[in-house]
Parts: sequence; C-alpha cells; structure tokens
Amino acid sequence: MKIRSTSDEFGIFIEDLDLRTIPDTDFPALRSAIIQSGVGVIRDQLLTPADLVSFAERFGKVEYGVRGEFQHPDNPDVYVISNIVEDGKPLGNPNDGFAWHTDLSFLEHPTAFTFLYAVETPTSGGNTEFASAALAYDRLPAARKPELDGMLVCHSYKRLHTTRKNARALTEEELRRMPDVIHPMVRTHPDTGRRALYLGPNTSVPIGMTDEAGLALMDELMEFTVDPAYRYVHVWKPGDLVVWDNRTMVHRATEYDKINERRLMHRTTVKGERPV
Ligand SMILES: [Fe+2]
Repeated sequence: MKIRSTSDEFGIFIEDLDLRTIPDTDFPALRSAIIQSGVGVIRDQLLTPADLVSFAERFGKVEYGVRGEFQHPDNPDVYVISNIVEDGKPLGNPNDGFAWHTDLSFLEHPTAFTFLYAVETPTSGGNTEFASAALAYDRLPAARKPELDGMLVCHSYKRLHTTRKNARALTEEELRRMPDVIHPMVRTHPDTGRRALYLGPNTSVPIGMTDEAGLALMDELMEFTVDPAYRYVHVWKPGDLVVWDNRTMVHRATEYDKINERRLMHRTTVKGERPV
C-alpha cells in the first residue's frame, strides 16, 4: 500500500491495494490515513455491492438509507445515485448532492464516513469536489472563533426535503423518524481532536437567529470553506472508490449532461457519534 498527497492541505491517493483483501494488520494505518487527510482516493477497484458494504463495515456501523426507493436491489445498504432509467424505472436518485454539504447532518448521530464507488461515469462533469471544514476553521480570523465556538445549529431533514426538485410529500412516519436536530457549529474530531466547522446543507440555521440572518451566516461560512484555492476536485473513472470523513469535509457533485451521458454511483455510509 502506497500513500501520496492530492495537495498540500488534505486528501490522499492510496495505491497498490485491493480493498477486498486488505489484511487486518494494514487496516488501522489505512483508516488513520483517511481520517488525518479527510479524503482517500483508491482507484482501479472491482467492488460488488456486497464488497463495498464489507469494506465500509470495517469502519463502523453501516446506515440504511432514509428513503427506501433508491436502495440497490441486491443490497439495501447501498444507495444508488444515477440518471439512468431502465424500463421506465430510475436506477437511482439523479438529483442528489449538487449543493455543498456534509452527509446526513440532519441525523442525531450523523454520518462519519461516506464510501462512493463509480460504476459508470460521464465523459465530462459529474465530478465530486471536496473542501476541508477543519482547514477552514484554522483559517478563520481568531477574533471570529469564540462566537462560532459557542453556537448551536438546527439541522432539519424536513426543511432540506422541501428544497429538493420534484420531492414527494413526506409521510407521517418519515416525519416522526426524522425530527430536527441541534449540533454545534464547531465540532471536535473524536480521533484527532481537530476542530472543524460543521456545516450542513444550505438549510441549517443557527439557534437564536432569524432564518434570514442564520442562512446568510451559514452561506458566508460555506463560501469561505469552499474557496477554490482550497479544493480537491475528483474526476471519476469507473472503479474509483473515494472515502471521506464528514466530520471534517464538505463536498458536492458537479452537473453533467444527464440527457446524453450515463452516471451510476454506489454509496454506503457509516454512522458517526453525536457531534461535540
Ligand atoms: Fe453527499
């Protein structure tokens, strides 16, 4: 296993390994390298949905998707993101993740790790961009930190859902399962002790602020975090697996030609701790 950096700031390429057979003795170093760098890119893998889930399970407890409709037919722990329609039925969610966010921040115990595996990729676009919210916290002017350190933010699945294109109405049961949750604006990583802004999607609002002021603050912090000078852009090839730590990273997908191109991605996520 060889590790090299994608940039000076965060992100690594991990080479010369087969994720299906990585020995227990090598796994702690791999996990630790991914946590330290925020994003790990592992190319040329041949992973069935079951292989993807087995690898993810080595990092922790795999989460079920919130909505059942885009689960992989062979494995409910794999969520499918795709624009492909077969026999009139979409293979996956075509509209997921085009705004900057961290995964499933609206859960009480939000996602720690996301595993995204490329099965089919478009000839251009459909990239995934990453920025580090830990680096952003470090880069903030010192005078701003005390105020942000004390803030709490409401993350709402209901509110996020209403912003989605063609969203169907949530059922009573889904609403009961997905109450709004409150997380700190600045969280401390349980393994490294590093502090990071914890920015949800652009529907999270700090407690005690109006929607207008709160959303403006969250937008400002996200814009600061995703400064193009501090991004890693992953251009996908089939067989790529990218693993990232949502406790320090934000990400988004970029658009592509959904009419003429095909994109098929498999995603699995591992549950994290309550942010503190
Ligand atoms: Fe995402």
